[in-house]
Amino acid sequence: MADPLLQIEDLHATVEDREILKGLNLTVDKGEIHALMGPNGSGKSTLAYVLMGRPGYEVTRGKVLYKGEDILGLAPDERAQRGIFLAFQYPTEVPGVSVVNFLRTAYNTIHPDDEKSAIAFRMYLQEKIDLLEIPEELVDRYVNQGFSGGEKKRNEILQMAVLRPELAIMDETDSGLDIDALRHVSEGVNKLMSDDIGVILITHYQRLLNYIRPHFVHVLMGGRIVTSGGFDLAERLEAEGYAGLGQELGLAREEYVEEEGAAV
Ligand SMILES: Nc1ncnc2c1ncn2[C@@H]1O[C@H](COP(=O)(O)OP(=O)(O)OP(=O)(O)O)[C@@H](O)[C@H]1O
Ligand SMILES: [Mg+2]
Repeated sequence: MADPLLQIEDLHATVEDREILKGLNLTVDKGEIHALMGPNGSGKSTLAYVLMGRPGYEVTRGKVLYKGEDILGLAPDERAQRGIFLAFQYPTEVPGVSVVNFLRTAYNTIHPDDEKSAIAFRMYLQEKIDLLEIPEELVDRYVNQGFSGGEKKRNEILQMAVLRPELAIMDETDSGLDIDALRHVSEGVNKLMSDDIGVILITHYQRLLNYIRPHFVHVLMGGRIVTSGGFDLAERLEAEGYAGLGQELGLAREEYVEEEGAAV
């Protein structure tokens, strides 16, 4: 059998000497959307950063295999080149670099066998802009500078369309979106979904999952996945909250009660 796209085993990670991930297991295959839900401060963004290799996030135990390869020793750009993509919870501004130039540089780095000239890239980009119905003027502006929350998220979906990752990790793609933008961004993700990509969708709200139907829903509490299921698990969470679910699962109280100042 082929290796899974992503296989995380007993992952422990610390940030500033504090253990945040405490034995996390997760397997993602191509063609699957995995929703990851959990209270503030439970470690969702930490997992995304660990997968991308962000400095400051130290893995102390466990394995992360991407298509069978241990990626923990790889730099963030090496992971991106292998097809891993992270859409940030708080996208950063890149002043002085237009979206189109940023995307072309990223594309040519990730797909060196298909390097595109400025003109060829512009045509390729246009296809994606049309597919996602993104306002064209967005791509001539500087990356995220002065972008509204909704525009930043749209830009992220455009990045994903252009870079064609095999594993996409989307952190709180729904945060700060109005209902129309939410639908728009969700439609974009649905259009990009195929048998060639696996998606980890980090979200707080069942609302997003009405638009993007996950194949699996996982609940992250206290640094590990405490239960997994289908869409009905998200509905159950909406009804019971994390405390209700935590009690039902017989977890220790500190695993589902938000720590003071825990959210970042
Ligand atoms: N750079 C950092 N320095 C110190 N503590 C950090 C850092 N990054 C994360 N943490 C801590 O790790 C814990 C998990 O944070 P994380 O951002 O992963 O939570 P989350 O599940 O994404 O929460 P939210 O739902 O609020 O986005 C928190 O207690 C947070 O304060
Ligand atoms: Mg987060």
